[in-house]
Amino acid sequence: MFVRLRSFAPVTPVITPEGVRAWLVTRYEDVRAALADPRLGKDWVAHMTPEDFDINVDPVQAFLDQHMLNLDPPDHTRLRRLVVTAFTPRRVAALRPRIASITDELLDAMSDGPAETDLIEPFAFPLSVTVICELIGVGVGDRELFREWSETLLSSRGTRQESRAAAVNMYEYFTHLVAERRRSPVDDLLSALIAARDSGDSLSEHELLAMMFLLLVAGHETMLNLIANGVLALLTHPVELKRLRDDPSLLPSAVEELLRHANPLNHATERFTLEPVTIGDTDIPAKEWVMLATSSANRDPSRFADADQLDVGRDTAGHVGFGHGIHYCLGAPLARLEGEIAFGALLARFPRLALAVSESSVRWRPSSLIHGLENLPVRLR
Ligand code: HEM
Repeated sequence: MFVRLRSFAPVTPVITPEGVRAWLVTRYEDVRAALADPRLGKDWVAHMTPEDFDINVDPVQAFLDQHMLNLDPPDHTRLRRLVVTAFTPRRVAALRPRIASITDELLDAMSDGPAETDLIEPFAFPLSVTVICELIGVGVGDRELFREWSETLLSSRGTRQESRAAAVNMYEYFTHLVAERRRSPVDDLLSALIAARDSGDSLSEHELLAMMFLLLVAGHETMLNLIANGVLALLTHPVELKRLRDDPSLLPSAVEELLRHANPLNHATERFTLEPVTIGDTDIPAKEWVMLATSSANRDPSRFADADQLDVGRDTAGHVGFGHGIHYCLGAPLARLEGEIAFGALLARFPRLALAVSESSVRWRPSSLIHGLENLPVRLR
C-alpha cells in the first residue's frame, strides 16, 4: 500500500479506524520536513473545537493527553527542559546493569520453561514494562493493570466506555502515586520530576500526571514492539540473523536498522495544520489532521537503497523511527540501550531460536498508531 501511495498519492485523504478524517503523508522527504514544520501543531486542546473532530473526545482522556508531546512551544519547550533535567544521561547509563539483570532473570525463567512460547508474554512485555516502571517508580504489583489500560487506550477495537474506564483508572492511579512521592520522595524519576526546578519553575499537578501518562505509555508500548517486531524480522531473515549472531559488534547498527525496518509505530502522533500548508503538491487547509507515516518514510527507496531489505550493517542515518524535530524521542538513548541488551542476550541464550508458526499466521494488533504483534509464537530450543 505504501509503495503505491508514495508513487501515486503521496499526500492522501484518509479516514482513521477511529473515524477521523486526516491526510496521510508517505514520502520520506515530506514526512521529515513536516515533522519539523512549526505550522503543524500538536496542542489540539487549545486549537481544535469539538466541531473540528468527527468524534467526541473524552474529558479525562483529554486531561491526560495534555502532555508535552501534545503541546507546542513555548509550553513544550518549558516541559521538555524540566523533564530533561530529571532524565539525565547518568540516570539512563545507570540502568545498564539493572536492565541486564532483569533480562537475564527473564531468560532464566524461559530456559526452565516450555520449549515453545509466545515471546511477548515471558520476555518482550515484562522487560519493557519493568524497565520503564522501575525508572519512573511504578510498583511491581501494578504492572499488569497498567498494561491493560495502556492496551485499551491505544487499541482501535475497544468501545468508548472501555477507553474512558481505562483513562479514569490511570488518572486515579497516577494521582495516588504522585501524592505518595510528594510525601516520601525516593530515588526515582517521579521524585526527580517533582523536585525538578528550572529558574524557579516546576511542574504543576496536571503537568506531572500527564507526563507520567506519556512516559509510561510512550516508553513501554514502543519498546515492547521494537523487541517483538525486531525478533520477527530477524527470524524471517536468516542470513541477517546469522550475520548478527556471528558478529555481536553489529548490535548497535542492528537495533537502528530494526527501528527503521520493523517500525514500532506506523506513523508519528497526529498533528494538525495551524494555517493552510502545502505538502508536496497538495494544499491542506487550516485545522486539518495530518498523519506522518514514519514507517513508510523509513522504507522509501529515495532515501534508503533496497529499503525493504533488512541489512543489520546498514547506515541508517536519518531514519525517522524516533521522529525528528522538537518532539524527537526523549527516550531514544534508553530504547537503544535496552534494545542492544535485549537482542544480544536473547540471541546468545537461545542459539536455535525459531518461529513456531508460519510468518503469515502471526497476528497484528488493531491500532493505527501502534505497529505491534498480538503474539509471537517461537521455539526456544
Ligand atoms: C523503541 C522505542 C521507541 C520508539 C520507536 C519511540 C518513538 C518515538 C517517536 C516517533 C516520537 C515522536 C513522536 C511525534 O513526533 O509524533 C517519540 C517521542 C517521545 N518518546 Fe519515544 N520511542 C521509544 C521509546 C521511548 C522510551 C523508552 C521513552 C521513555 C522513557 C520514550 C519517551 C518519549 C517521549 C517523552 C516523547 C515526546 C517527546 C516530546 O514531545 O518532546 N520513548 N518517541
